Amino acid sequence: MPLLECQHLNVAFGGAKALNNVDVTADSGAITGLIGPNGAGKTTLFNCVTGLLHPSSGVVVLDGRDITRLPPFKRSRLGIARTFQRLELFSSLTVRDNIRVAGEIASRWQRPRVDPRRETERVLDLLALGHLADRDVTEIPTGMARRVEVGRALMTRPKILLLDEPASGQDEAETEEFGDLLLQLCADGIAILLVEHDVSLVMKVCSYVHVLDFGSTIARGTPNEIQANPVVLDAYLGADQEP
Ligand SMILES: Nc1ncnc2c1ncn2[C@@H]1O[C@H](COP(=O)(O)OP(=O)(O)OP(=O)(O)O)[C@@H](O)[C@H]1O
Ligand SMILES: [Mg+2]
Repeated sequence: MPLLECQHLNVAFGGAKALNNVDVTADSGAITGLIGPNGAGKTTLFNCVTGLLHPSSGVVVLDGRDITRLPPFKRSRLGIARTFQRLELFSSLTVRDNIRVAGEIASRWQRPRVDPRRETERVLDLLALGHLADRDVTEIPTGMARRVEVGRALMTRPKILLLDEPASGQDEAETEEFGDLLLQLCADGIAILLVEHDVSLVMKVCSYVHVLDFGSTIARGTPNEIQANPVVLDAYLGADQEP
C-alpha cells in the first residue's frame, strides 16, 4: 500500500478546474515526481495534501487513514511536511533559528522526544548549511534559502516530504548535490513527492513520475516512459527540445 494516496481529487477556482479527478500516490523510500506546465495544478495538489485547501471531492489517505478533513497541524503530526514554491521563511530569524523553531514546536508532541538543539545541528550538517547557520536568512542566496526550508521541514521527522520547486535558485552543482541528498533521505525510508521544473533532476532521482496538464493527469510512469511519451513531449517536455 502506498504511504500517500490522493484519490479522484477535484478542485475548482470559480469556473476553472485546477484539479480534475487526479490520482497521485507516493511510496516510502522513493522519490515520486509531479511535473507539468505552469498552472497544471501541482501546487494545488500539495495544498490539498497539507490541508491548506479542501478538495470539492476526492480523498487524501496517509498510511491507510483518511485525512481529507484534518487541519494542517494534525497532518503535520501524522508525518507530512512541505516546502513552499514562494519561500516562506521567518525573515527576522537566522538560518539556525528558522530550522530550530520547527524542532521546538515539534518537540511538544514528538515521542520519543527529540532534542531540538542537537537535531538542529544534525540537520544543518546534513544540508551543508553549517557555514551559514548564524546568517540572517534574508542575506543568503535563494538556493540556500530553499535548503533551509527543507531543513525546517525535516525537523518534524516527517514520513513524507513535499517539495515545491526546491531546485529553483540553485545552480547546477548545487542541484546535483541536492539530488544526492534527496536520494539519501529516501534511502533512510522517507517518501518524497517532488514538484520540479528541472527535468534532469526529476529524471535522475525519481522512480515514478506523474504528469499534470490543465488539472488532469496526462501520463504516469517511470522517467524513461515519461521522456518517451508523445503526449508529455507535446504538452511539456517538448518545449525544452526546441532549437
Ligand atoms: N487561490 C487561487 N485562486 C484562484 N485560482 C487559483 C488559485 N490557486 C491556483 N489557482 C489556479 O489554479 C491553476 C493551478 O495552479 P497551481 O498553482 O496549482 O499550478 P502549478 O502547477 O503549481 O503551476 P506552476 O508551475 O506555475 O507553479 C492555475 O490556473 C492557477 O491560476
Ligand atoms: Mg506551483
